[in-house]
Amino acid sequence: MKGESFPFRCPCAATLLLHYNHDNKPVLSPLTLLARNGFGGWKSRTTFVLALSSSAVGLGNIWRFSYLTGEHGGAPFVISYLLCLFLIAVPILIAEVVIGTHGRGSPTVAIRWATDRSLLSRNWMVIGVLACFTGLLILSYYTVVAGWGLAYAGFMASGVFAAASALTVGEHFGDFLASPRTLMYWQSLFLLMTVVAVSMGVRRGLGLLVWIALPTIMVLLGVLVVFAVENGDIKAAQEFLFSVKLMDFSARSVLVALGHAFFTLSVGVGAGITYGAYAPDRIPVGRSVVAVAVFDTLISIAAGLAIFPIVFANNIEPSMGPGLMFVSIPYAFGNIMQGELFGTLFFALVVVAALGSAVALMEPIIRVLMQHLRRPRFFCVLVVAAFVWLLGFACILSFNIWQDEHWFGTWNFFEVLDVLTADLLLPLVSLLTAVFVGWFMRVEIVRMELYREARLFFWLWRFLLRYVAPSAIGVILVAAGLRFYS
Ligand code: PHE
Repeated sequence: MKGESFPFRCPCAATLLLHYNHDNKPVLSPLTLLARNGFGGWKSRTTFVLALSSSAVGLGNIWRFSYLTGEHGGAPFVISYLLCLFLIAVPILIAEVVIGTHGRGSPTVAIRWATDRSLLSRNWMVIGVLACFTGLLILSYYTVVAGWGLAYAGFMASGVFAAASALTVGEHFGDFLASPRTLMYWQSLFLLMTVVAVSMGVRRGLGLLVWIALPTIMVLLGVLVVFAVENGDIKAAQEFLFSVKLMDFSARSVLVALGHAFFTLSVGVGAGITYGAYAPDRIPVGRSVVAVAVFDTLISIAAGLAIFPIVFANNIEPSMGPGLMFVSIPYAFGNIMQGELFGTLFFALVVVAALGSAVALMEPIIRVLMQHLRRPRFFCVLVVAAFVWLLGFACILSFNIWQDEHWFGTWNFFEVLDVLTADLLLPLVSLLTAVFVGWFMRVEIVRMELYREARLFFWLWRFLLRYVAPSAIGVILVAAGLRFYS
């Protein structure tokens, strides 16, 4: 790969750029890594914040948030999700970005850098490996659902749902899921879009994507909310989203809320580390992450306000599960003036948002492979895409041919992937990250990376990271585990 070999011949420069770890072995400094990997970070803080936002805003906000809120009884779920988001997920995302800005490399290399500087065991690198593995699993079902979005944008544009009854739309979704070929076609198409974006590299691909994607998302969502307010039952939607009723809320709902907080903020897959590594120097990491979280929440609530008025106005059952968006939206838009246009816009929104997230899911592992295999970006992208494609295929089969195969009694393969990642792996990686940064990394280093934040902010963050996050994640995981086995 271009620029892969050590670029400096001059011994003085080499001394400057090589460091020694506690075993007195030479290690590469961040500066060297930066030069060696053809590093192309972003120049502006805005691009960094936009990139983190585009990784956060995705299917999680539109598809997952709406159906989970529907399944877990509305407001109590929303409240616990918000608490988990700001008290647990935000501090951990800050910790991830700190590792990234400090180590300036892929998740594994950045963590190795942090361990060396804090004289810790390099076994902590397992966090990076686990994070990338989790991202890979999520990506394999993410591309499948994003493919549905792509297909439905096409269906809406061609007017398939014009004047269709709710039953017809439901049957259409059922037929759609029953055909592995169709699902594969759309999944492959979406994966191809992701491959193109990731292959273009960070500055050109991602840097450009975020400047186009986020404004598009905001405009489209704005239009759709206005549309839903005018044409749907906004009262019922508000009641559902914001008033506390404890009917469907259970202990498991808290775990789901926690998992969703990580999922929606893209915590636990190394995206924070990778994007942190591309960030310009001297950014206020803490404030940037809080801004991203606020933005992400606003988008989720706006998506809820775009979907639920329509669900309630058309007597659709909010707790119908992952198909919620793919039945309610086409039905409603099929029966409304200019519905084709708005329905197409809606699914275009879903695809654009999903693309930013899919890139964030793929980028960390690509960086890891590039740094460890020393192969060009495109080669690594193809390897990862092939793996994702195959796993995605297994996921597709769970909707039709393997429909009756159940793991752990209840879940099909798609649900196994979802539960395994959101309810187990994301909390686990996040817990390890919180312990690593909160308890093990040297506090001076951490403070240095957050020097733009006020002391109060820093100590509050550290408190949440050291005490609140690990104990909350631990308790929630154990409680959910006990319920699972009981
Ligand atoms: N945050 C993304 C969403 O809400 C999903 C995602 C998870 C992206 C993890 C990157 C990493 O859809």
